[in-house]
Amino acid sequence: MKLAVIYDSVTGNTRQAAEWIAEGMRKAGAEAECFFIDSADKEYIRDASGVVIGSPSYVASVTPKMRDWLMKAGGMGMAGKLGGAFSTVQYTHGGGELVIQTILTAELCFGMLCYSGGSSQGEPIIHTGPVGVNGNKEKHNSLEYYRENFTVFGERFALKAAELFGTEK
Ligand SMILES: Cc1cc2nc3c(=O)[nH]c(=O)nc-3n(C[C@H](O)[C@H](O)[C@H](O)COP(=O)(O)O)c2cc1C
Repeated sequence: MKLAVIYDSVTGNTRQAAEWIAEGMRKAGAEAECFFIDSADKEYIRDASGVVIGSPSYVASVTPKMRDWLMKAGGMGMAGKLGGAFSTVQYTHGGGELVIQTILTAELCFGMLCYSGGSSQGEPIIHTGPVGVNGNKEKHNSLEYYRENFTVFGERFALKAAELFGTEK
């Protein structure tokens, strides 16, 4: 079963988070690839059972590049796939949840089945999707602190995709 993690990233934080999600997906037995939005492999994405999309928070929303990409993504065969979302931010209250909401809303518009695990899987409780806060401004913080949230999210997402679509596809 193929899963894709698609992200925008300028300074590498969201790319790192994407890699942690893919790591968790592989731990659960899935084939997982990460794609920067400028070089997303359309054939791989078309064949994938699930797609997780992530963006840094720019003024508490997705980046302009991600917004543009989302406008076209519906035409990439997203309907019926499992969908998830994630974000990285500079401030604890920097809009990570709003970024996730924007992405999940787009996924619903495409006809995707959105999943985060929510509180149903116990700790760590991830709610709408994982958010990582970097240590640029909040010196007590570090993206690394959120690593487990991303890997566990990837694992749970892959297990749900396998349950829904089987492992062979
Ligand atoms: C134009 C711009 C706007 C930003 N707006 C926010 C914001 O509203 N809230 C926040 O927490 N961080 C904000 N940031 C910081 C980034 O979201 C944060 O550093 C993120 O981890 C960067 O991801 P990247 O390394 O994948 O590019 C902003 C950064 C830029 C360049």
